[in-house]
Amino acid sequence: MARLSSFLGKLLPQLFRRPDTTVEPANLRDAPRLSQLHRAAFHRGWSTEEFEQILIERNAFAHRLRLGGSTIGFIISRTAADEAEILSVAVAQKHRGHGLSRDLLRTHLGHLAGHGLKTVFLEVEENNRPARALYERAGFRVVGRRDRYYKDAGGEQLNAVVMRRDLS
Ligand SMILES: CC(C)(COP(=O)(O)OP(=O)(O)OC[C@H]1O[C@@H](n2cnc3c(N)ncnc32)[C@H](O)[C@@H]1OP(=O)(O)O)[C@@H](O)C(=O)NCCC(=O)NCCS
Repeated sequence: MARLSSFLGKLLPQLFRRPDTTVEPANLRDAPRLSQLHRAAFHRGWSTEEFEQILIERNAFAHRLRLGGSTIGFIISRTAADEAEILSVAVAQKHRGHGLSRDLLRTHLGHLAGHGLKTVFLEVEENNRPARALYERAGFRVVGRRDRYYKDAGGEQLNAVVMRRDLS
């Protein structure tokens, strides 16, 4: 019995261990991979060129989530005056559910705060539960609603909520 519990004591943390990831600033060279991740995550995926156009802007901030030698997620924002808007965040499907987006968002918000940004906004489809849980846990609150803001793959119109978080 003691041997079994010792075995389980070693095995279980291994099974539920979070992957060893890092969050790093992303740059123009990441555009093709970010586009790939975006296309896999969203109905209207952004092209490499669209990412390049955003990343080239001086007021764009992006981070990539790395596992081993691969980029498995990203977050990207655009800023104006002392406000930022999170434009997109995604984690590759097979790596979801391990809390990795929390690290990505926390690092990104820290970076925005470090650049003097005071408030962050975002829009998210109102029934996107993982995303809403992510943002709510990070301190975002719903401040508005946009009816029929998105269209899903079947053409159905979906509402969005606007969320806000102050950076202190
Ligand atoms: C949103 C997204 C980035 C979250 O990434 P992730 O690394 O899987 O997120 P986490 O594992 O940190 O989970 C986030 C929260 O969602 C919850 N969650 C995960 N899957 C869920 C599901 N299917 N239904 C409901 N809640 C879910 C988790 O429990 C967690 O909440 P908690 O912190 O209160 O426990 C990821 O789901 C994704 O890439 N989705 C597609 C793109 C997208 O919708 N982006 C957001 C658009 S604004």
